[in-house]
Amino acid sequence: MSITLDPWGHTAVEDYEKLLEEFGIKPIKDIVDFYSLDHHYFKRNVIFGHRDFDLWLEKLSSKSRVAALTGFMPSGSPHLGTAMVYEELKYLQQKGAHVKVVIADAEAYAVRREDRNGLIKRGLEFVAHAIAWGINPEEAEFYFQTNMTSSYYRLIQMFSRKVTEAEMRAIYGEVSPAKIIAALTQVADILHLQLEEYGGYKYVLVPVGVDQDPHLRLTRDIADRFEHELGLKRPASIYHKLLRGLDGNKMSKSRPEYAIHLDDPVELAEKKLINALTGGRATAEEQRKLGGEPLKCMIFELYTYHLVKDNNELREIYTDCVSGKILCGACKKKAAAKLRELLVDHRNKYNEVINQVEKYIEKPSF
Ligand code: TRP
Ligand code: SF4
Repeated sequence: MSITLDPWGHTAVEDYEKLLEEFGIKPIKDIVDFYSLDHHYFKRNVIFGHRDFDLWLEKLSSKSRVAALTGFMPSGSPHLGTAMVYEELKYLQQKGAHVKVVIADAEAYAVRREDRNGLIKRGLEFVAHAIAWGINPEEAEFYFQTNMTSSYYRLIQMFSRKVTEAEMRAIYGEVSPAKIIAALTQVADILHLQLEEYGGYKYVLVPVGVDQDPHLRLTRDIADRFEHELGLKRPASIYHKLLRGLDGNKMSKSRPEYAIHLDDPVELAEKKLINALTGGRATAEEQRKLGGEPLKCMIFELYTYHLVKDNNELREIYTDCVSGKILCGACKKKAAAKLRELLVDHRNKYNEVINQVEKYIEKPSF
């Protein structure tokens, strides 16, 4: 059966290897050592695939001007899945990329049918969370889609000429005017940095969850078609695995009890964590004998993605688990303490940033 990725749905991916094959995404494994990619997402295969990231890294190392651009629909509040993208931007910025962040309010308005005022308020919060996570705002740009200038909108109009309805259907399945415009808007997000007016960054990397790959396939095709007219180049991309909900199923906005949000009260977050699905056995006795199954465990997933950056420490948790030396109760307590520290630290920074966030992003006029 073939896999479909729906950037507007809630994608659950069973088999990432198959996904690479199906869509011609390159495995990150092949280049991690070669380019000394030192972030734990690369080393642990959390970022598992890419398109042309090697070419982008070549440009970075030859000191060309390179950029990383990604976006967020400002609906709901950011959770630990959103924070993966913040984390990636922070890393790429430290490596020397110019960072630009899109608040996709036009997309959320059209596709999620959200109210304008709420979108603007939450857009500011998404930006404040990004800064609190560690993106240096003095060296980054942030914008609302609906606040962009005319050249960006001109791109959307121009792009519309060189895509067909059949092509859109082949990429996205069912389409509607709202989805088509949202998709072309995202293409403009990804490509506009290449125009002189917006900085002339020719090498743009898009770090995203793999559910966004359909947009990148479209963007790369459109870039090819405007190579001559506008001098556009294909963007590069990196893809991370989608953090699952705490019950092991796909994370979804309609099930907030299974996601840890960056603005959850700490006690609530801890409670969610304590109720998470583990790879533990039915009884303590059995677990001491057989060991746990960390690869089925959401606590271990949290350790891997967010809570333990040191590889030796993670390996120790893994071996203690599979050998039955540690049981889930104690292991969860340890995770809860780490989570508390992360959230408290984040909250303190967020509270400092939120009051001055409008220094870094201009609000749309209506
Ligand atoms: N579609 C993205 C989402 O669902 C948001 C987005 C808009 C985006 N423009 C982008 C992501 C450009 C990456 C690059 O959250
Ligand atoms: Fe998960 Fe920890 Fe239990 Fe192992 S011991 S299954 S890692 S909670």
